[in-house]
Amino acid sequence: MRKKVIAGNWKMNMLPDEAIAYMQAFEPLVKETKVEVILCVPYTDLFYCIMNAQGTNIKIGAQNMHFEEKGAYTGEVSPKMLKAIGVEYVIIGHSERRQYFSETDETVNKKVKAAFANDLKPIVCVGETLEERESGKTEGIIRMQTRLALEGLSDWQVQHTIIAYEPIWAIGTGKTATSEDANSSIKAIRDEIRKIYGDSVAEEVIIQYGGSVKSSNAKELFSTSDIDGGLVGGASLQPEEFSKIVNYDA
Ligand code: PGA
Repeated sequence: MRKKVIAGNWKMNMLPDEAIAYMQAFEPLVKETKVEVILCVPYTDLFYCIMNAQGTNIKIGAQNMHFEEKGAYTGEVSPKMLKAIGVEYVIIGHSERRQYFSETDETVNKKVKAAFANDLKPIVCVGETLEERESGKTEGIIRMQTRLALEGLSDWQVQHTIIAYEPIWAIGTGKTATSEDANSSIKAIRDEIRKIYGDSVAEEVIIQYGGSVKSSNAKELFSTSDIDGGLVGGASLQPEEFSKIVNYDA
């Protein structure tokens, strides 16, 4: 039985004082959950959140990183730097990074490898655009993105990669994929992993759904056969709302 993993993605929101107040409000609301709870926060909040998460069941993640460990890359943050301050997870290849910051399947793959090399757990985002969906290309696109992101990893590494299936047309739009659609796309991703890495790896990989997840649709989405939790943007900005998503089964 795979564990449910629910991650908040604050994107470019929350000043440190807001982040600390959030953590204090959120922690008591989710302390009973069996779900793995992660908050992926801006770089400038990481240290405050890590300090505030100590002794709680909340894990802290970054939203991006460079693939090199150090060097002349002005403005970038390395996996080693994240690890050194206690970060556990890192989102890689979010569609906003692919769209606005020229992230490609190749950089995604390099970052996934760099995450493992530095003992960080990657949350790798894949998903189709509206145009790709409407022209019937969804499955081909997400299978290809998955394959390229995981290329060259060991079975163990694939097994420990979290994948977030996020149809781009559902992100921040209020339009959620139906639970049947999301589940069938996630099955296709799992099947692609099965083809390359075999059954036992495929059955262990956590695959989340993301795209307008809220407390009113979380239970339906997360009760399907293959959706192992969610990556939540807008609805993770309010501690009460996000706690309801985490406690969807309570
Ligand atoms: P959303 O974002 O929940 O606001 O749609 C999800 C994401 O981008 O990870």
